[in-house]
Amino acid sequence: METVAKLLARKNKEKITMLTVYSASIATVLNNTDIDMLLIGDSLGTVFQGKKDTISVTLEEMIYHGSVVRRGAPDKFLVVDLPFMSYQVNAEESLINAGQIMKQTGANAVKLEGASAVVLESIRKMTAAGIPVVAHLGFTPQSVNGLSGYKVQGKDDPSAEKIKSEAKLVETAGAFMVTLEMVPAKLAKEITQELSIPTIGIGAGADCDGQVLVIDDMLGLYPGAPKFVKRYADLDKQVAQAAANYIKEVKAQQFPDAAHSF
Ligand code: KIV
Repeated sequence: METVAKLLARKNKEKITMLTVYSASIATVLNNTDIDMLLIGDSLGTVFQGKKDTISVTLEEMIYHGSVVRRGAPDKFLVVDLPFMSYQVNAEESLINAGQIMKQTGANAVKLEGASAVVLESIRKMTAAGIPVVAHLGFTPQSVNGLSGYKVQGKDDPSAEKIKSEAKLVETAGAFMVTLEMVPAKLAKEITQELSIPTIGIGAGADCDGQVLVIDDMLGLYPGAPKFVKRYADLDKQVAQAAANYIKEVKAQQFPDAAHSF
């Protein structure tokens, strides 16, 4: 299994790979691959629960999916997202919530979004308590309302400088990795060069230290996938075809046949 130390040592050497996962069945498949890290993302609110954003995802739901994934992927480095409002109030509450995730899911790290004063203090408290933290900057989905929609961040100089300085702040606070979502490739490259911790890009170009994708997006299971997603499979078509074959065979009394009966 990966460790924080091994992941840190990969910077400038070998790209880090990460995928989201929400179920034990997919986790079992991924446990037998070379994927480095699995993220139980609060994107489960959209891709798994069918909601329009991640805002309503609860700590209990993250713990549920985190523990489900841990059962399917006992050998992988797991990161569990802290959901909206589980770390924005104060650092004490953030620490308690991160501790619950670690204790009840078997995660190796937690992830949180932004670089506000409370978030930075939360990162300090969590790392001091032995909880590894992944930061998340650029487009931060839990702030979709404040950001007025799903938009690339850091396109002009002032906003690019802001994201750069946030990246340094989360590193100084103790984050061991930072996710950069939907930022120009040039900005992600500069941040990657300036930080000593690995950057993991999603819609942030090729120069980050690693990449993450939402599994439903890359498998072709989510119709609303953003532009930066590459489809590595068309499971939507395969599921529909398998269902059509099944329906046809049941109606034609071809299934179940002798081989599938007792
Ligand atoms: O929730 C999630 O899946 C994420 C990824 C988009 C990085 O945070």
